Amino acid sequence: MQDILSDEALDQIFRQARTYRAWLDKPVTDETLRQIYDLMKWGPTSANTCPARIVFVRSREGKERLKPALAPGNVEKTMTAPATAIVAYDLLFYEKLPKLSPHNPKMRDLYAGNPQLVESTAKRNSSLQGAYLIIAARALGLDCGPMSGFDNAKLDEEFFGAGKECAGCDQEFFPEGHVRSNFLCNLGYGDPGKLHPRAPRLEFEEACDLR
Ligand SMILES: Cc1cc2nc3c(=O)[nH]c(=O)nc-3n(C[C@H](O)[C@H](O)[C@H](O)COP(=O)(O)O)c2cc1C
Repeated sequence: MQDILSDEALDQIFRQARTYRAWLDKPVTDETLRQIYDLMKWGPTSANTCPARIVFVRSREGKERLKPALAPGNVEKTMTAPATAIVAYDLLFYEKLPKLSPHNPKMRDLYAGNPQLVESTAKRNSSLQGAYLIIAARALGLDCGPMSGFDNAKLDEEFFGAGKECAGCDQEFFPEGHVRSNFLCNLGYGDPGKLHPRAPRLEFEEACDLR
């Protein structure tokens, strides 16, 4: 049996946590970004595939590379955020399975021969891992601003070498064109003065059923 988290902790992670679009002038350290990853990596994924790959964009130069792909309404909030996580997925995630699923040696070949399964597994599980990232960040006292309003193909071409020859790709982390963006998540310490009233959620009876 696990302990139930305190009401304060549940407020911080869920009930009081908001989506932020304006940021206090307080940096997010590399150490904090490492702490986020070292928590989120423990969240479950199917067959322990762990397909998410994350680029934490912090520098002005990196933000300028992001900018052309952003929907106009997402530019200001992203350019001013201390960090923006590109939550992406690796279509070759199965090559890590000998390490990640050593007890199940046949899993690699199952995925390697089935691109549709690769795509659906990578998208589903990287989305889950993105949610774990949000929860980890909130647990560490940060605020988040997730976004899907951007041009995935444009961003993938810029950051992941998708669809182009790989000039200068030795400087990139995932240059070979097999990583795709899922969503973006601004990270920092949100400015509570800039929040609009919170929208409601569905009640249990509207969203759930007990059978
Ligand atoms: C996957 C995803 C994509 C989103 N895309 C955008 C976006 O492109 N721009 C934006 O301003 N907000 C975006 N949002 C923010 C949502 O509108 C926001 O999280 C939701 O309304 C809940 O707000 P709250 O956390 O303040 O209650 C996105 C959220 C998620 C989870």
